Amino acid sequence: MVNHYDAIVVGGGVIGSSVAYSLAKRGLNVIILEKERLASQASQAAAGMLAAQAEMTEAGPLFELSRKSRNMFPSLADELKEQSGIDIILTNKGMFKIAVTEQQVNEYKQMISFQREAGEQVEWYTGDELRDKEPALSKLVLGGLYLPNDGHVSAPELSLAFAKSAAKLGVTIQEYTEVFSFILENGRVKGVKTEQGELQSENVIVTTGAWSRRLLRETGIESSDYPVKGECFSVIFQKPILESTIFSHGCYLVPKEGGRLIVGATMKENTFDRKVTVDGIASLLDKAKRLLPNIVHAEWEKTWAGIRPQTADSIPYLGEHPEWQGLFIATGHYRNGILLSPITGEIIADLVEKKPYNDVDLTPFCVHRPLL
Ligand code: FAD
Ligand code: GLY
Repeated sequence: MVNHYDAIVVGGGVIGSSVAYSLAKRGLNVIILEKERLASQASQAAAGMLAAQAEMTEAGPLFELSRKSRNMFPSLADELKEQSGIDIILTNKGMFKIAVTEQQVNEYKQMISFQREAGEQVEWYTGDELRDKEPALSKLVLGGLYLPNDGHVSAPELSLAFAKSAAKLGVTIQEYTEVFSFILENGRVKGVKTEQGELQSENVIVTTGAWSRRLLRETGIESSDYPVKGECFSVIFQKPILESTIFSHGCYLVPKEGGRLIVGATMKENTFDRKVTVDGIASLLDKAKRLLPNIVHAEWEKTWAGIRPQTADSIPYLGEHPEWQGLFIATGHYRNGILLSPITGEIIADLVEKKPYNDVDLTPFCVHRPLL
């Protein structure tokens, strides 16, 4: 059995699959080790929004990274379709970040300037203007930012497309294989230990999402990451009821193909319990009904939950371990792992190849930054 690889990716969510795909495109012999099934955790639960503008409230490194990653999607969609045959269903019909209180009206209007200074398109719509475009929205909507470039994809399809494309380029995918620890010698990583034995590599990339803390602690990093559970539900309308995505504080409505609407998502910190609760779905439905009263007539589809990987400063960890050469970390993507997956893959591949990554200053993302 082969047990030596150019790179070992630990964790098969959207981030691990994107990293493996980027490394394979550069000719590396890669294996993904996933403790359960590929993309069975947060990456399966995501609504798929590419909310580079709607999710960011200020200028800064995360805004820069998000915009760059969002811009990669049109060519990525074609590339993944060609490699894997999978359509990630990239939809570019814009997003409204809507306000339902006067305080939100003021807050959101103030965001216009930093977004325009960055060269992004953003327009303010009054409540009536908004309802002209989206007549199903209720009178409670006071106005909102129109973000024409914030689209969405199918998150499960994206993860699968990365993994299948990676496999086509020769990446080995091994499910039901948990990495317990690393082989660390003389200042560098030499491989990983699993229940099925050891695998060797001088490059190991940790993409274990919300489950990263224990593994990182073993390498001497006291990371600040913690889990944040999110619950969603979906309904089906006979005819599509919304054109654009509606993004509101505590509730978003993402119109998918065939009249399907995803409604998300709750936020519960410090739990790995993925059970969907009546309380979670009831509170979400209540918010959705206020925004979109006709949702009560839709057909119920299903509910689900996932665990987001959050960090103390809400910025992902992207970089090489400060003490163990060849050990790379890409986790903590919190609410934006789908959006940030393409750029994360490219950044990690550059770091593995020891190429300087100059597009964005990576200092704020480094794994040994001071904890809050
Ligand atoms: P995961 O998908 O959780 O993958 C980590 C993998 O590592 C898991 O499969 C796990 O089994 C495996 N693993 C863990 N430990 C080990 C080990 N020791 N050995 C081997 N394998 C291991 N983001 C967006 O951009 N847009 C959205 O609209 C959006 N909506 C969301 C809605 C909800 C309800 C939730 C929960 C999240 C949403 N997100 C969204 C966030 C996004 O889903 C995450 O940021 C992203 O999926 C994180 O990807 P990941 O690969 O790091 O983690
Ligand atoms: N980005 C949406 C969510 O995490 O719920």
